[in-house]
Formats: sequence, structure tokens, C-alpha cells
Amino acid sequence: MSNDPMIMSPVPSSLSAARPAAPLAGVVPVPGDKSISHRALMLGALAIGRTEIAGLLEGDDVLATAAALRAMGAVIVRAEDGRWLVDGVGLGGLAEPDDVIDLGNSGTSARLLLGILASHPFTAFVTGDASLRRRPMGRVITPLSRFGAQFLGRDGGRLPLAVTGARSPIPIVYELPVPSAQVKSAVLLAGLNTPGATSVVEPQPTRDHTERMLGHFGAKVTVEPEPGGGRRITVTGHPELIAAPITVPGDPSSAAFPLVAALVVPGSEVTIANVGLNPSRTGLILCLQEMGADITFENQREAGGEPVADLHVRAGTLKGADIPASRAPSMIDEYPILAVAAACARGRTRMRGLAELRVKESDRLAGIAEGLTRCGVRVHVEGDDLIVEGADNLPAGGALIETQLDHRIAMAFLVLGLAANQPVRIDDGRPIATSFPDFVPLMTRLGATFTEAR
Ligand code: S3P
Repeated sequence: MSNDPMIMSPVPSSLSAARPAAPLAGVVPVPGDKSISHRALMLGALAIGRTEIAGLLEGDDVLATAAALRAMGAVIVRAEDGRWLVDGVGLGGLAEPDDVIDLGNSGTSARLLLGILASHPFTAFVTGDASLRRRPMGRVITPLSRFGAQFLGRDGGRLPLAVTGARSPIPIVYELPVPSAQVKSAVLLAGLNTPGATSVVEPQPTRDHTERMLGHFGAKVTVEPEPGGGRRITVTGHPELIAAPITVPGDPSSAAFPLVAALVVPGSEVTIANVGLNPSRTGLILCLQEMGADITFENQREAGGEPVADLHVRAGTLKGADIPASRAPSMIDEYPILAVAAACARGRTRMRGLAELRVKESDRLAGIAEGLTRCGVRVHVEGDDLIVEGADNLPAGGALIETQLDHRIAMAFLVLGLAANQPVRIDDGRPIATSFPDFVPLMTRLGATFTEAR
């Protein structure tokens, strides 16, 4: 058994992707779901007893969550067989960390942990890398302050910040001003160590892993439809959280990269095994099917309370589509790779309502537009919409892409390089390790060609 959380998974800094000599082929699994992995560690740390997690994503973001929880007293180890074991401290049992908590690139760690900290009566200092320090935390500070937590942060509520959790937290009802599962989860997690009922009203559904997993650990959670649409999620405070085994399904947001690669590299035929298909995460698959993609679901089953299937994908001609804003929460992380699919399609694709992309690991709206332009694709931003003119032939490529500490921009443009007429180079592949440490070897197994560039 190892106590060392640091699993070395380096991805080279500068990488180049070129069209492979043969179509992509084979069967690959994808790593564990990032959202579910964070939540499994957090709820395991707050429960009584030992939580065993199978399939945890061993990416830098999730390791940052594990390190933070350890710094507050949870015992988290990786067993020889790859399962992760979390000995929880019990609700309210976290201890003041004796150093600054550094969450690296991980927005999910930051927002959700601030939720937990808001109802623990001690002071913690939280920071992250240059990307995370730019991202807005005001969206969680606003509701968490209403519990009675105090925050001292930089302009715009940015990290580094100090949080002092409320000694006598007050439950709240909070209507989400932005469709964000991170904000919803922060409020629900703060509600755990708060007496009474805490509710979040979400006008548009966002990923529901927190609600599902709270129920799995024995908390009382209700989900009710709201009269004007949307739903109200209520957690009853001070539940006895009991350790529960978790099987983490493969991450649909990671599966998106080999999936689109298989669609756009002519002649490819690929199976991606064990992909989580929670309905709040499947917007990309729906869009690709509307664009004419050949995707079939095999071996449909349930794993860890989530629907799962193997995806069988065959390359073919894609056509442009009009993607409604209402679909954005179910595919919010998938726009960089959808834009790549759109660049390889026939006709125009319009992706509507992408304001939230501006506050991801980088300004993704700008990053996608800039990168595609460099690759010879006609693209423009109109308000919050992104419009991509598909190439009648495959995109030119032949460009260097600045990834701006953004793993999904990095992977999306490497996939574009597999289909483009000239190789595409990214300036920094290292952020890929935050969510998909095995991206390069896995894609290479399918026949992709990546070279380390200098
Ligand atoms: C996540 C929610 C999404 C997503 C992020 C993971 C989560 O963020 O972009 O990668 O695990 O709750 P928002 O809630 O800010 O949309």
C-alpha cells in the first residue's frame, strides 16, 4: 500500500500531431470521471468509516483534492490493486490545515472545497496556479457568505483567499444565477454541516453527481420540479454520512477526444469502453448524432449508480448543426472538441450561449476562435455564440496553438492535427495531466501519431 499520492504522469511540454498513416482502430477505456472522483474523495472524507473507490481518476486535479483533504485530517491511500481507500473523519471533523492549500489548476476542487469549508469553524488559505487564480470565486463566495462564512480575497473574489467557516451556519435557499454544478455543489456541501434544510434552485439542469452521491452516502436529498421549470434540490443538514463503496465510470468529457478523433480521421473504427452516460453529461453525443455521426451504444449497464456503455464509433462525413444554448450545461466542457468536429464538417455550425466558456481554465471562446483561425478555419464569435464554417476539405492545420494552461484546448487541437492537412503543434501538453494523464499513450494505441516538438 502506498501513502504517496503523487503518481507521475508527465505529458511532454510541446507536442505535435500529424495525420496518421492508417485509420484509427482498436478498443480503449477512458480514465475515471473527474467530477465523480472529486466528489467521492470529498464525501468519503466527511463520512464515518472507510470508503473504497474503484476507477478513481488519477489526474492532477483529483490528486489536489486528495492532498487538501489529507491536510485536514482524512486518511487517503492508494491500494496496490489501484483502489483508493478513504478513512473519513465524520461530518464536522475536519481540522484546520496548517499550511496554504494549493489546488493547482482545479476549479472543481476550489469551488467544492470552499463549500465544505464554509461550515467548518476554522480558517484556511486557498490558492492555485495562474489559471485558477484568474477564475471567479465570487460565484461561490456570494452564497457561502450567507451561511455566515467569511472570505478575504483578491479583487473580484479571486484566489489566493482566506476562508473562515461559520461557527453557527444558517441554512439558505439559493437560486443559481449561472447554470453551474460547481456552485450548486458548493452550496449543498456547505448545507451538510448546517442545521435544517439547504436548497438550491437551478433554472437549467446541471450535472447531478453531488445529489446522487449524497444519497448514496445516506444523506437526505430531495429533488423537486419548480413551478416555472427547473428544479429544487434540498439537503437536510447533519446527516450521518456512512462510508459507501464507489465505482467511478469513465469520463464522457475525456471520451470526447478519442470519439471525435475516430469520427474525423477517415476510415477509423474505434470502441471506447466504459463511458459514463449520465443524461446531464451527454449533450456532445446528441450534437454529434445530429451532425450525422455513426455512434452506437453497446453493453449498456449501470456502474456506481450511473448509466454506462461502450461507444462504437465509425468515421464518416459530418454536417454542420445549430446547437441550442439550452444544451450547454450538458456539454459545457466539450465545446473545444465539438468546434474541432465542426471544423471538419460540411457547412456551418453555430454554438449558442457560450458565455460560461470565458471563465473556464482559459477563455475558451477566445482560445477556440484563435486556434481554429490559425489552422485556416473560418470562425467568428457573435455575442456569446461561436460560428464555425466547416472545411469542404479537411482543415489546413500547420499552426502552433497556445494552450494557456488549458487541458481541453490542448487535447482538442491535437485531435485537429490528426485530421488536418499539416501537423498542429501545441506549446504545452503538461496541463493534459490534470484530467487525462494517459491521453498520449491511449491515442497512440489507436494509431495516432504525436511527436515531442522542441
Ligand atoms: C464541474 C462542473 C462544470 C465543469 C467542470 C466540472 C463539476 O463547471 O466545467 O469541469 O464537477 O461540477 P461549472 O459548474 O462551473 O459549469
